[in-house]
Amino acid sequence: MEIIRDPAEMTAWSKKQHVVGDTIGFVPTMGFFHEGHLGLMRLAGQRSDRVVVSLFVNPTQFGPGEDLSSYPRDFERDQELADKVGADVLFVPETEAMYPKGAQTTVSVRGLTEHLCGADRPGHFAGVTTVVSKLFNIVCPDEAVFGQKDFQQLVVIRRMCTDLNFPVHIVAHPIVREDDGLAMSSRNAYLDASMRESALSLSKSIALAQKKVAAGERDVDTLAAAVRMLIDSYSGTTIDYISFFNQSTLEPVSHIDETTVLALAVKIGGKVRLIDNGYLMEPLQNQD
Ligand code: PAJ
Repeated sequence: MEIIRDPAEMTAWSKKQHVVGDTIGFVPTMGFFHEGHLGLMRLAGQRSDRVVVSLFVNPTQFGPGEDLSSYPRDFERDQELADKVGADVLFVPETEAMYPKGAQTTVSVRGLTEHLCGADRPGHFAGVTTVVSKLFNIVCPDEAVFGQKDFQQLVVIRRMCTDLNFPVHIVAHPIVREDDGLAMSSRNAYLDASMRESALSLSKSIALAQKKVAAGERDVDTLAAAVRMLIDSYSGTTIDYISFFNQSTLEPVSHIDETTVLALAVKIGGKVRLIDNGYLMEPLQNQD
């Protein structure tokens, strides 16, 4: 696996692959790999001739007081893991190369970013869409794989690609979970034993809502109350949001159907903010 740090060198590498007719699958990440990231890389490898993984802890998507400086990093381990799953290139740009002095251009998606995490984290999605646009222009992928763990991010990136005519097919990968149901996340590294237990409140309450829907419940307020009660029964949990929304518009819904997603953001121990989501009924068509 090649390590490339220079954006121009990355673009030149991609052009070479396209000249010989190879397709490029791309997995953008902020590193500290877990099985979620590795699943995305494997899927990219199954679908494309070449796989590029980017590792860039993007400062512009962190708000003031968020965990940019403490975000977990382990380059050696990430390098080994990406190599093992068969990535061809690990693209690791410096911050100065991604954001040269004098930069004045940003990419932002309206509407969709006003819901869910966008309401709590102003500027976050503009940071994401700006860096992903830049990465797409540098890497020139045919496809890019994003995780359903960040459901809103996936929908926002799809919108951006449509609106700005990026010739990149976006592929969704299902949420990868620990054996006990906790959605894998680089931020799980912050959890001590008792916080780890409380972190289960997210996946457990989504499972509870799914069970109630399977038993016939369709009222959002009733489901929200049950979800809230379960999360509150764990110690040190603070709910940022419980949202039942439409998979495409991200608009809140009052009645559950196959297009309804439940998403949660919960702070554990006052500081570690975790997110999770799930369809409440078997989705009619997968978003892939
Ligand atoms: P990061 O949090 O490192 O996630 C990289 C990719 O891995 C995202 O597409 C995310 O949805 C996916 N992912 C993370 N945990 C997952 C899990 N448990 N199951 C499935 N997929 C999972 O998301 C970002 O980085 C950044 O916002 C980025 C897109 C790289 C832009 O900076």
